[in-house]
Amino acid sequence: MKSLLEVKNINKSFGKKQVLHNVSFTINEGEILGFIGPNGAGKTTTIKLILGLQSIDSGEVIINGYDVKKDFNKAMTSVGAIVESPDLYMYLTGRQNLKLIANYYKGIKEEDINKIIKLVGLEKRIDDKVSKYSLGMRQRLGIAAALLPKPNVLILDEPTNGLDPEGIKEMRELLVKLAKEDKIAILISSHNLSELESFVTNTCIIQNGKVIKSTSVKELKKLNETTFKIDLNTSKGISKLLGKKVKIIDDDSIEVYVEKDEITGIITKLIENKYQIYQVVMEEMTLEDAFISVTGGNKID
Ligand SMILES: Nc1ncnc2c1ncn2[C@@H]1O[C@H](COP(=O)(O)OP(=O)(O)OP(=O)(O)O)[C@@H](O)[C@H]1O
Ligand SMILES: [Mg+2]
Repeated sequence: MKSLLEVKNINKSFGKKQVLHNVSFTINEGEILGFIGPNGAGKTTTIKLILGLQSIDSGEVIINGYDVKKDFNKAMTSVGAIVESPDLYMYLTGRQNLKLIANYYKGIKEEDINKIIKLVGLEKRIDDKVSKYSLGMRQRLGIAAALLPKPNVLILDEPTNGLDPEGIKEMRELLVKLAKEDKIAILISSHNLSELESFVTNTCIIQNGKVIKSTSVKELKKLNETTFKIDLNTSKGISKLLGKKVKIIDDDSIEVYVEKDEITGIITKLIENKYQIYQVVMEEMTLEDAFISVTGGNKID
């Protein structure tokens, strides 16, 4: 598989504060990487370095084989991006916005624009003013704009921010289509793992400027322990008894993250400590659970 975006050991400081520490990841054609981390983790900074919007202190970013530091223009010809929020003129229509952007590039034809409008599902509203658009429609127009130069790398910084579940679903379908049909490599950042887990192929989890886990979604789920949901008479005192392996759900239910063969020991321990167990259910692990077990209990939000 061809790697379209390679980030290799990049470091970045603002003044004395180092905000990125040896951040590395790769995205191959057709892959969607969920770049996940809490506020201030360094997602936007990483994206700005990839796009050459800020200088890299050390390390390399390679896009389509071109080093962003040495071959900036060549590297950028095949990248489309939205950083923080799309730049759109509210008083113009969607189509007028796209035409303006198309003028920056050579050789974008009317039919190319129409194709992209159709792809992002804005045919019916494209001649309305952007000020009349919903947030989801603005995001889709932003993606349309990012797709105009026919990139094979698409970078979206928190595109699901503020979208309702329906908007997130539409974006998800669009991105999956772009990755599958057009073999585009997509980087999508978010602080919300649950929004991404159903459709990304890989995840890179960043905290305090360091990549703490980088893996395919399949491996992440496989690698981690199984979740057991246990209903019992009380959840009091269980954190103390079981430590990090447990999450208290409410007064009478808990979740335990362990290897399958450890559950007997856990149940025995609970019984020895006079807990009454009503039900034990093994659950398929969500990425959120996997994240919790990887980071030792730190929630993303
Ligand atoms: N221009 C700057 N000058 C100084 N510090 C900065 C600058 N830009 C970012 N930072 C700091 O770098 C760290 C990472 O910020 P960044 O915006 O990359 O995080 P993020 O993961 O995108 O967060 P969010 O989820 O809130 O968007 C933060 O501590 C932030 O305060
Ligand atoms: Mg950010």
